[in-house]
Amino acid sequence: MLDSYGRDINYLRISVTDLCNLKCRYCTPLNGCEKKEQKEILSLSEIKDITEAFVSLGTQKVRITGGEPLIREGIINIIESIGKMDKVKDFAMTTNGILLEKYAKDLKSVGLNRVNISLDTLDDKKYNHITRGGSLKEVLKGIEAAKKVGISPIKLNVVLIKDFNEDEINSFVSLTKYEDIDVRFIELMPIGQTYKWSLEKYKSNSIVLEKNKDLIKIESTDISSPATYYKLPGGKGRVGLINPISCKFCDKCNRIRLTADGKVKSCLHSNEEINLINRYRNGEDIKKIIYDLIMSKPKEHGLENGDFISRNMMAIGG
Ligand code: 5AD
Repeated sequence: MLDSYGRDINYLRISVTDLCNLKCRYCTPLNGCEKKEQKEILSLSEIKDITEAFVSLGTQKVRITGGEPLIREGIINIIESIGKMDKVKDFAMTTNGILLEKYAKDLKSVGLNRVNISLDTLDDKKYNHITRGGSLKEVLKGIEAAKKVGISPIKLNVVLIKDFNEDEINSFVSLTKYEDIDVRFIELMPIGQTYKWSLEKYKSNSIVLEKNKDLIKIESTDISSPATYYKLPGGKGRVGLINPISCKFCDKCNRIRLTADGKVKSCLHSNEEINLINRYRNGEDIKKIIYDLIMSKPKEHGLENGDFISRNMMAIGG
């Protein structure tokens, strides 16, 4: 459905857990997040009902996020229930890939179309450092497993971090030459308790183009995608730049976010949330609440004016 600025709000991002098996420095505070009690978290049937309400109001694209979605108990059942919704035309997940080897086959068989994998470095030691303990090998095995079962396209999300992975930009870009993989560089956003770190480590995505003069700009097939896409001459995959900081894309934002604790957000960078879980449990008409939420979606975020949100990224899901 159209919001009050004429944007078609057809994309729902569902965070199914705010817990993660990694502790990425830009996403998770050192001590992690407090584990919520089960009753504070949306149940499988609540996720299904809420998603159905969104779908009846025009949602066609659903992405499952976290924390790390694959550590949520019953994740395959959640995917299966949404995979059955005919009106969902694009059904994806963002994962760190650690558990993908284990789940790729099941995910594919219950209707997930594709995955985005968060991967900020191709170096073992650096991976271990940025994720505070993760193993790159497991992610690489996960990517292979996803390819093998035909989850496609595979997109890698690379958060660009100053003095950390600038030296790997060209290695990531090269991956797109021979493989049908999209590599998307994302500018680091200051969010939650890690915002100071993120401000210090911010680097504009323009460096990707400076280092790769042969990249050719291409038209995106998805007009609402926040990424601007490029290709290497003769390259199989694409290179995407997602520039929420240097070039904000609010005018084509089509998203609503549902958090694991049942709040809905119409703007990633706003502290405003609606407590959908309570209102649903009180028997209110959630379709009406979602309608009002979409109609009140703000025109744009105010990051450049110093607006920082308090909720941590791991409790939103990107
Ligand atoms: N800035 C930019 N990207 C982020 N992500 C998580 N936190 C941040 C941040 N502060 C990325 C993850 C994931 C995607 C959903 O968002 O790496 O790939």
